[in-house]
Amino acid sequence: MQFIMAEDYEELSRRAANLIAAQIWMKPDCVLGLATGSTPVGVYRRLVTLYRKGELDFSAVTTVNLDEYQGLPAEHKQSYAYFMHQQLFDLVNLRPDHTHLPDGMNPETEEECADYEALIQSLGGQDLQLLGLGHNGHIGFNEPSDRFCPYTHAVQLTERTIRANRRFFDPEETFPGWAYTMGIGTILRSRKILLIVSGTEKADILRQVLYGPVTPQVPGSILQLHPDVTVVADSAACACW
Ligand code: GLP
Repeated sequence: MQFIMAEDYEELSRRAANLIAAQIWMKPDCVLGLATGSTPVGVYRRLVTLYRKGELDFSAVTTVNLDEYQGLPAEHKQSYAYFMHQQLFDLVNLRPDHTHLPDGMNPETEEECADYEALIQSLGGQDLQLLGLGHNGHIGFNEPSDRFCPYTHAVQLTERTIRANRRFFDPEETFPGWAYTMGIGTILRSRKILLIVSGTEKADILRQVLYGPVTPQVPGSILQLHPDVTVVADSAACACW
C-alpha cells in the first residue's frame, strides 16, 4: 500500500487526478472504476481541466461506477448517474456508450446485479478503481456487515449512511433506503485501487481501515489485502494518528 499525505483538499484532488491521468496516458483504452460523494468532486474538476488543456483524452476510456440508488431515475438530481454527468461525463470527450452505472430503475434486482457484474467482466475488469470512504468505513455502498460480499448486489443503507447522504436531498424528498453496489470482490478485482479520504470526520475510520483488523464490520479494511492500493488523504484525515 502506498500512502500519500496531501496538505489539503486541493492537493489531494491534484495528486489523485494525476494518478488517474497517468493511468489514461499509460493505457488510453483503460477501464476506470469511478466513485461519487463529495470527496471526488475536486478530482473530477482537475481531470476536466487537464482535458480542456488538451492534456487528457477520454475518447477510448470506459467507465464503470461503483453504485446507484435504487428507485432513482438517471434524470433525478440526486442519482449518481446525474452526478457523474454533471461532474465529468458531459464535460470531457467520454463516449456516452462507454459510461456505465447500475440501473437504479431496474426492479429485477438479481438480473440487474448479474448484468452489471457480467458487464464489468466483459470489459476485462477495472484497471483503476477510485474509492471514497463512508463514515462507517463503507466502500461503494458495501455497508458494515458480517461478511464481505463478492459480487454486485442490492444493499439496505444503514442509518449512518442515510444521515451522511441525506444532506444532498431536499428535506421533503424521500431518501432511497436501498442501493445497487459493486461487491467487495468486484472492487478487489480491480488491478489498481485509489482511495481518497478528506476531513477530520474521516480520521478515525481511516485509521481503522488502514491499521485495524480486516473485518466486514469495517468494509474498507479489506483493502489491506489488495496488492496495489494508493491512499491519498489530506492532513485533516490523518488528524488523530
Ligand atoms: C456515498 C458513496 C460512496 C462514497 C461515500 C462518501 O455513500 N456511495 O462511494 O465513498 O458516499 O462520500 P463523501 O465523499 O461525500 O464523504
